[in-house]
Amino acid sequence: MAPQKPQLNKTHQRDKTLQIDMRSDTVTRPTAGMQQAMMEAIVGDDVFGDDPTVNRLQDVVAELLAKEAALYVPSGTMSNQLALLAQTNRGDQVVLEDGAHIYRYEAGAPAVLSGVQLSCVKTADGIMTWPDVEAALNPDNIHCAPAAMVCLENTHNGAGGRILPQEGIVAMGKEVRRRGIRFHLDGARLWHTHVATGLSLAELAQPFDSVSLCFSKGLGAPVGSILVGDRATIKRAYRFRKMLGGGMRQVGILAAACLYSLDHHLTRLQEDHEHARYLATGLDHPALAVDHPVDTNIVIISVAGPGQDDALVAHLASLGILVVGFGPGRVRLIPHLDTTRDDVRKVLQALNSWSAAAND
Ligand SMILES: Cc1ncc(COP(=O)(O)O)c(C=O)c1O
Repeated sequence: MAPQKPQLNKTHQRDKTLQIDMRSDTVTRPTAGMQQAMMEAIVGDDVFGDDPTVNRLQDVVAELLAKEAALYVPSGTMSNQLALLAQTNRGDQVVLEDGAHIYRYEAGAPAVLSGVQLSCVKTADGIMTWPDVEAALNPDNIHCAPAAMVCLENTHNGAGGRILPQEGIVAMGKEVRRRGIRFHLDGARLWHTHVATGLSLAELAQPFDSVSLCFSKGLGAPVGSILVGDRATIKRAYRFRKMLGGGMRQVGILAAACLYSLDHHLTRLQEDHEHARYLATGLDHPALAVDHPVDTNIVIISVAGPGQDDALVAHLASLGILVVGFGPGRVRLIPHLDTTRDDVRKVLQALNSWSAAAND
């Protein structure tokens, strides 16, 4: 389907005093068409499995990824954590990359909820290879936590929206699953990999036992993520979702926004990728650098000089441009559904003229 221009409505119009908000692709607001779809949703009590719109969303996504079943959940964090809960036991080992969202930004949930031991592999670029994983997996030895799961993240947020090479994933998947170890993908932005590479979502998901995807990021829905996998895993996740308080009632109102986002906002992600590349290639400043390939919609800028990352965030904020600090010496920008090319030009201008201000 050809990319469509989203129609703006009142909630979508920008406050004039503000603001170009590139802190995240989660800051988008529902378009008029999306709100209409939400208003028209046919709903039921999803804890009883009665919400036809939720059921449709789950069926559509399971089919898109060629997996047996799917479960709609409130957030990407819950989706990842349900994958761990459903496929590991307390005391198991889970191997993942050192910058993984599951490790860095989910509030220590793997330790608290699943009681697993994380082994984090440091890489230069966020791309973990099979030899890295093989070296990290515990031997089958009474002294060690049993190796139970390997997690990847595609695209990799902490590595600047990197796309993981699919051949490496396929090869790793074979080795991991041959050993009876579960293979989970945090695919919060797998949509972006799909659009950027042209690989189908089913191909991208094929090596994995479970995949988590978010609607509330680039796709522009207000709430929701989904966990897909085999029927037995999703059945276990369903029970854990209830345990964590994630059983929602007439939630088809939200699922309708997600269905709408799949129909209207998927192919347009290409536009966000182009904005990100424009930003990265237009950056021209002695103290600022983008030192990762810009594969998708995330741009991480390295800022030279102690405390200069905070200074840059504050400087941009004073111009009505919001970005986030992303670890020491790093600032992250993400163009999204509400970002125009004009916004990107303004941000570039502000970045490129910052040296003068900073060196005054
Ligand atoms: C790669 C990745 N996984 C998971 C999440 C968690 O999603 P949520 O904020 O919906 O919990 C995020 C959020 O930014 C993310 O970037």
